[in-house]
Amino acid sequence: MNKNTKIALTLLAVMGLAGIFLTGVALHPALATTDFCVSCHEMEAPLAEYQQSAHFSSASGVRAECSSCHVTEGFGPTLYDKIDALRHVYGHFTSSIDTDEKYEASRLRMAERVWADMKEHDSRECRSCHNQEGFEFDKFQSHSSAKRMSKGLDDGKTCIDCHKGLVHTMPDMTSGYKAIQNELITASTDPDIETGIVFPLETVIGYPKKEGNRESRILGGTRLTVLDNEGKWLKVRVDGWKQDGVDAMIYELQGKRIFSVALDISARNKSTIHSTMFDEDTEQTWHKVSYEAWVSNQGLIEDETKLWEYGEKLHSGNCGSCHMAVPANHFLANQWIGVMKDMKRNIRHLSKEQYRFLQKYLQLNAKDVKETSH
Ligand code: HEC
Ligand code: HEC
Ligand code: HEC
Ligand code: HEC
Ligand code: HEC
Repeated sequence: MNKNTKIALTLLAVMGLAGIFLTGVALHPALATTDFCVSCHEMEAPLAEYQQSAHFSSASGVRAECSSCHVTEGFGPTLYDKIDALRHVYGHFTSSIDTDEKYEASRLRMAERVWADMKEHDSRECRSCHNQEGFEFDKFQSHSSAKRMSKGLDDGKTCIDCHKGLVHTMPDMTSGYKAIQNELITASTDPDIETGIVFPLETVIGYPKKEGNRESRILGGTRLTVLDNEGKWLKVRVDGWKQDGVDAMIYELQGKRIFSVALDISARNKSTIHSTMFDEDTEQTWHKVSYEAWVSNQGLIEDETKLWEYGEKLHSGNCGSCHMAVPANHFLANQWIGVMKDMKRNIRHLSKEQYRFLQKYLQLNAKDVKETSH
């Protein structure tokens, strides 16, 4: 028997004993006390977070214990939970969360397990105290919140869809999009682009000729057709729309404020007009245009699928923490500008470029874009 096998066997034996112990606890729910949980969960979090929440102390004095939210009542679920609880023991002996660093590193993974469980069981832990039929929505402080909650429940949403981070600090949801962003950055700094379609990840500068002075800013997520290449330079074409009288901007689509290129004064009359139409709805004249410029070959993405996957992750990671991420096709492309402005205070940690990219992603998937262009 080698050393590792011995350790594994010892571990199994210990877990077996611990399993019997926990099953005992299961059958005597009184033992599943907060003290018991905290005997292992002695880290600053989650106890300190819990003690600051309205579920620990409030005007009504009703207290939710750890087990009220994490151990379901009733014989069936309790037994199941305890078998499941062996993971805590296993984790304990493998020290998966015994320092603050490890705890934070595991937080998202653990939280996702709790969310998935609660979702699967229609948040029965919450419902053991909060009765859905008992809510009086006209007594809510905010009319719009009351409407959101009652409509959400009618649409089949469950408590945990909207009430994440109620007791504990929200996990860092940004790891998903940061990982993709890093991959994209790495891929775009050592490019081998000669022809085809590319997209800037962030704003890039457009030049009239290789080097020289800048004449435009081409925004992240804009589709560029590569026409020519020389060393570290690419000549590209942007196809888009200009609104009559608005010289400084090329938009992605007719009638929609999805920004593609911001033109400096020197480039405002440079684009080629292919056709002109009058938009009855807005009573504006629009020109279908193309614009050509030179750009550096740095920061351009060839993998379109990965690029929009980044957009999707930016959306779910930033807009799904306080409420469910509102699907892009719930709004018109132009409405997303206002919604993003309203939510700006909630996503301060996003850089300007990430914010713009997210807005473009949402607009390109808006109700009036996806349906008309596909
Ligand atoms: C034997 C020590 C121990 C005890 C006792 C214990 N835990 Fe845990 N718990 C852990 C460890 C270790 C983890 C991390 C497991 C991992 O890394 O996946 C964990 C993870 C969790 C998670 C994260 C989600 C999941 O399912 O993994 C929750 C929630 C949790 N514990 C709640 C509780 C509650 C509530 C109690 C009391 C009823 C309790 N724990 C008792 C050690 C323990
Ligand atoms: C042991 C009973 C109990 C359980 C279980 C419970 N709650 Fe509560 N909850 C309360 C009580 C009591 C209050 C009122 C505290 C106060 O007076 O502000 C409350 C307050 C709240 C509030 C308003 C205060 C705040 O912190 O925002 C929300 C939202 C809420 N609960 C949601 C939930 C959700 C979601 C769950 C399941 C994850 C849950 N509750 C589980 C008893 C419980
Ligand atoms: C569609 C989203 C949504 C769903 C689903 C939802 N809520 Fe809410 N709930 C809200 C919003 C928004 C508020 C307003 C407070 C806030 O902004 O956090 C709220 C407020 C509350 C409050 C505080 C009421 C007050 O004003 O004092 C409680 C308690 C609560 N919810 C419990 C629950 C429980 C329990 C469930 C599941 C049965 C649930 N909620 C489902 C969105 C939702
Ligand atoms: C009112 C319900 C409620 C109470 C009380 C509660 N939790 Fe949680 N707990 C949750 C929810 C919901 C999550 C999922 C993450 C989130 O939304 O914050 C969670 C997540 C966790 C996690 C995973 C790490 C994390 O931060 O997401 C651990 C560990 C945990 N709880 C342990 C405990 C312990 C120990 C206690 C008692 C000291 C406790 N919880 C009390 C609802 C509760
Ligand atoms: C820090 C919490 C938080 C984050 C993060 C957040 N929101 Fe919200 N959001 C709220 C709250 C609270 C409300 C309800 C009150 C209100 O309307 O201001 C809301 C309401 C909304 C609404 C409904 C209001 C309307 O105009 O119809 C939409 C849509 C929305 N959010 C989209 C987003 C998007 C997109 C993001 C990401 C860019 C985001 N939210 C990020 C807290 C947040």
